[in-house]
Amino acid sequence: MKVPISTLIVVLLVSGFIIATVVSIFSLHKKNWLNFNIVAFGDSLTDNGNLWRMTNGTIPPGGYYFQGRWTNGFVWVEFLESSLGAKLTNRAFGGALTDNNFKNSKFQSSFANYSVPSVKEQVEGILPNITKFPPQTTFTFWAGSNDYMRIFENNLTITPTDIIESIQSSISLLSSSGARRFLLLNLPPIHRIPRYKSCRNLTLLQDLVQEHNTLLNETILSLSKSKRIYAEVFDVWGLTERVLADSQKFGFKNSVDSCSNLNNSVDSCSNLNFSKQEFYHMGANIVKTCENPDEYLWWDDAHPTTKAHELFAKEISTFLNNGQRKRLDNI
Ligand SMILES: *[C@@H]1O[C@H](CO)[C@@H](O)[C@H](O)[C@H]1NC(C)=O
Ligand SMILES: *[C@@H]1O[C@H](CO)[C@@H](O)[C@H](O)[C@H]1NC(C)=O
Ligand SMILES: *[C@@H]1O[C@H](CO)[C@@H](O)[C@H](O)[C@H]1NC(C)=O
Ligand SMILES: *[C@@H]1O[C@H](CO)[C@@H](O)[C@H](O)[C@H]1NC(C)=O
Ligand SMILES: *[C@@H]1O[C@H](CO)[C@@H](O)[C@H](O)[C@H]1NC(C)=O
Ligand SMILES: *[C@@H]1O[C@H](CO)[C@@H](O)[C@H](O)[C@H]1NC(C)=O
Ligand SMILES: *[C@@H]1O[C@H](CO)[C@@H](O)[C@H](O)[C@H]1NC(C)=O
Ligand SMILES: *[C@@H]1O[C@H](CO)[C@@H](O)[C@H](O)[C@H]1NC(C)=O
Repeated sequence: MKVPISTLIVVLLVSGFIIATVVSIFSLHKKNWLNFNIVAFGDSLTDNGNLWRMTNGTIPPGGYYFQGRWTNGFVWVEFLESSLGAKLTNRAFGGALTDNNFKNSKFQSSFANYSVPSVKEQVEGILPNITKFPPQTTFTFWAGSNDYMRIFENNLTITPTDIIESIQSSISLLSSSGARRFLLLNLPPIHRIPRYKSCRNLTLLQDLVQEHNTLLNETILSLSKSKRIYAEVFDVWGLTERVLADSQKFGFKNSVDSCSNLNNSVDSCSNLNFSKQEFYHMGANIVKTCENPDEYLWWDDAHPTTKAHELFAKEISTFLNNGQRKRLDNI
């Protein structure tokens, strides 16, 4: 059979066009995320060894924690770094409050004799270097968990408004210095961590965290409108609730207990007292871990397993790549 040359040309042109389109979509994708820089602020949910280095390799202790991380492997932002081909600058510190200067704050964050840089201080620390980061750099915040635990456990007298205002002023400070892209993680349902399993009334904690997440959405929306920044909130609360409602679907057999057995009763609600530094001892008190940590959502009484971190990162990566990329391109 003879094919007319004009048909061949059309076929070649069309397939060439398709190839060119596929190639350009692919390189657009690469252009967006290769050399993509992430600067991360936060607490033990994000720290990949900063507190550990500051405390000379003592907090969190070795053995049951993976090289200074508060879990048994890499943390979410490290998984995100590798899936996006990004370059990570991690400023997060385990134990960090959002702000160490809260009015009436009795609880400046400290472990042993080390004072922990709050998220506010982490941000201030990076400012002198901010021009070294390319304009596409994304600044991530996952902050507030320690503040709410201390409101709940120690009557720290601050409100969600104080915490959100501090995060807002950190973002404003960064954006005044040229930062444009922000990824905010809201807070998980903290009242559902194993640490609080035996607490009878968690309504206050649940309400506070929900209020935090509502305020965070509102604040980020209005910041995005008033400043030339691109900011998105990733809904960790929603994701965690979905995992808790159908853990098997996400590969977890146990989403209630911690994989680690602690040698004390920190999960007995009446014994909780942050100022006794049980939080620090939490790690030192691990005496045994489960045999199949990948089947657990929680590694210790307050932190997810690395498997859960990996899941969070996967969902965040999809969130960034799908709906959000177009808007990012306009920045
Ligand atoms: C860290 O450990 C080294 C070696 O044990 C010791 O010389 C140094 O004083 C320690 N630093 C701090 C800040 O504890
Ligand atoms: C903190 O410092 C004091 C005074 O130097 C010391 O006596 C104490 O043992 C230190 N505490 C810890 C947990 O290292
Ligand atoms: C800022 O840059 C200087 C010089 O490159 C470096 O020594 C320092 O560690 C950087 N600080 C931060 C917080 O990244
Ligand atoms: C916090 O307040 C409650 C109720 O007022 C009280 O029972 C509890 O002992 C206080 N906790 C601390 C750590 O001060
Ligand atoms: C639980 O605590 C909330 C807020 O502190 C309070 O309003 C509520 O009455 C408590 N519920 C029960 C069943 O004790
Ligand atoms: C915040 O916004 C996200 C994304 O639109 C949404 O999924 C989430 O439910 C919101 N959370 C609250 C508490 O409003
Ligand atoms: C558990 O804690 C008790 C009291 O703090 C201590 O005496 C004991 O040695 C600990 N056991 C293990 C296995 O660490
Ligand atoms: C918590 O521990 C601190 C320090 O040991 C103590 O002063 C305080 O009274 C304790 N609070 C409660 C509610 O047990």
